[in-house]
Amino acid sequence: MNRIALLTSGGDAPGMNPCIRAVVHAAAEKNIEIIAFKRGFMGLLDNDCALLEIKDTSGIIDHGGTILLSSRCEEFKYDEAQKEAVKNLIANKCDGLIIIGGDGSLRGAAAIAGRGVTVIGIPCSIDNDIFGSDMSLGTDTALNNIIDVIDKIKDTASSHERTFIIEVMGRGSGYLALISAITTGAEAAIIPEVTFDLEGIAARIKERYKRHKTSNIIVVAEGASTAYQVSRNLSKIAGIISKITVLGHLQRGGSPTAFDRLLGSRLGFAAVYELIDGNSNCMMGLVKGDMTATPLQIVLERRKGFDDRLINLAKILGS
Ligand code: F6P
Repeated sequence: MNRIALLTSGGDAPGMNPCIRAVVHAAAEKNIEIIAFKRGFMGLLDNDCALLEIKDTSGIIDHGGTILLSSRCEEFKYDEAQKEAVKNLIANKCDGLIIIGGDGSLRGAAAIAGRGVTVIGIPCSIDNDIFGSDMSLGTDTALNNIIDVIDKIKDTASSHERTFIIEVMGRGSGYLALISAITTGAEAAIIPEVTFDLEGIAARIKERYKRHKTSNIIVVAEGASTAYQVSRNLSKIAGIISKITVLGHLQRGGSPTAFDRLLGSRLGFAAVYELIDGNSNCMMGLVKGDMTATPLQIVLERRKGFDDRLINLAKILGS
């Protein structure tokens, strides 16, 4: 293995930069070159690439985002685009490819592996919805961003005895909503994995006000509903007036936590070593503390299970 291609794809997540840095260091130690493609699969199609050396990754470990830029590339679903990508990888003498990204990016990884390219994926998404890794890169930082905001909102909420509806990211996954609710002492989490009972939540809020509790926080995953919808319905059902905060993309920014810096570094090294060992068409992930390779087919077929004990914990702690 003389040269490995690298790209970051899909929604950026804090931890991409530490991971890029680790890939470059791991490869340099084995005298392997890293060639980085810009803007994810777009760069692979446009042949927009350059060698990436240790000096280029100096000082990035504490930076959010990705120095390689990222994009969501719909075009890559099609044959023409995939063929073009393979052509460019061959033209650049790449012996392998590392893709850092979420579900859609790992689908791209599997597609290109199916065309004979040696590929390793790295799970990176704030949603923590990728099978084959207990935690995805970026999730921990996003969670810390969320709880930082909710803690602050609780100060003003309790001063005015208000109810707040906080909308967090997670199109198909309630992980961020559930864990942030548990770790901020929120009253309820509304997540796509569980049918929610707004009347029950409304009754609980009213009962809490009777007990002179000073604030109520409800965290909503964007995949389950919107903060506006929940607020409107609470008012309609029970006359409860609430304030709304939609966290949006600020959840994805900021300096990666120690957890994400370490996870990104471990995954980056593991991906390079996996390629050197001759493996392909798999994703490196964190499983029970260890770096583990899972075939991409399994990663994409299986749905990451939701731990019912966490849902129960949130229910009991929020009551
Ligand atoms: O996939 C990660 C994620 O942040 C989701 O939680 C969110 O729904 C989506 O990306 C937002 O995508 P975009 O940045 O393209 O608006």
